[in-house]
Amino acid sequence: MKKIALLTTLSLTLMTSLMAAPNMQKGEGAKKLAQMAGEKSPFYRAKKEAFPKDYFMINQNLPFLVGVSLFHPQSDKLNLSKEQLDQLIKMKNTTVPVAAKVAKEIKSMESELAKAMLEEHKEPKTQYELVEKISKLRTDLTKAHLQCIYDIQDVLSPEQFETLLKLATMKPKAQKMAQKSVAVTPDSKGKELFTQKCISCHTLGKTQDMSTVVAPALNGVMRHLKMSYSDKTEAVTFIKDYVVNPSEAKAICMPQKIKRFGLMPSQKGNVTPEELETIANWMFDNYPQQGFKGMGRGLKKN
Ligand code: HEC
Repeated sequence: MKKIALLTTLSLTLMTSLMAAPNMQKGEGAKKLAQMAGEKSPFYRAKKEAFPKDYFMINQNLPFLVGVSLFHPQSDKLNLSKEQLDQLIKMKNTTVPVAAKVAKEIKSMESELAKAMLEEHKEPKTQYELVEKISKLRTDLTKAHLQCIYDIQDVLSPEQFETLLKLATMKPKAQKMAQKSVAVTPDSKGKELFTQKCISCHTLGKTQDMSTVVAPALNGVMRHLKMSYSDKTEAVTFIKDYVVNPSEAKAICMPQKIKRFGLMPSQKGNVTPEELETIANWMFDNYPQQGFKGMGRGLKKN
């Protein structure tokens, strides 16, 4: 009896962690931050700079909860309502850009400080003012951080907040495993499903025999799609909707494609919402493939 109970618990835990997913995918925002952060200092000791978090006065011993609530690989366990999700996204969008701007300023002041001390052999005293300035800005960031920690407790229920703290204290190794179960499994599953449900019309790459083509190839579809929807969440939402409910008004592909191929027939009944979720994520993550340039040149000539 005991054994069975244990096994059930085990497989349940496994299943829930397999089904776990982040509420939001890191997308353009993360890229923008990395761009803003620029190169890390040659004296930076950790492998990866956490920008802008590293520039808060308290950067390790307080959790960054808004990020955890949106991007933690198991953040869907919070069961956020649409309204809560919107509130959290709004918090992220109003605070992160400001923090990043201040962090960038701190970072450049700190490299100025390193230069003064290491290359110019300046007397320490001449740098005190700069140190004070850095200290003030770092303190400001932490004060704003406290406000975030305070505000998020108004958005979440006490139970959700408890779950959030559990996610925030998850060890990196467990996090990585959770991430793997989201990133790898649906990925191969996505390809498999696309092959079953969509490849009959959408080839992956270019087809040699143009006379048999009945729909734009996946590379082309995704290149156009990302021009209109660079954010992953939005792109996935669009695909999920379009596939079961296509219309000329919504289409992002060029009008001449629809003229040539006709509107895509709705795949309602051919693919479940869950399957579509997996397919759409896989499409976004893998297409267009690197090096794909499209046929822009050919089109212009015509
Ligand atoms: C019977 C053929 C057919 C099947 C099956 C099919 N598609 Fe399409 N699809 C088309 C055609 C034709 C177009 C181009 C016309 C259009 O945009 O509707 C298209 C366009 C698209 C677009 C671009 C929409 C736009 O805005 O123009 C997406 C995204 C897409 N398909 C996804 C899928 C996915 C995902 C599947 C599998 C679940 C799938 N399609 C299965 C024929 C098909």
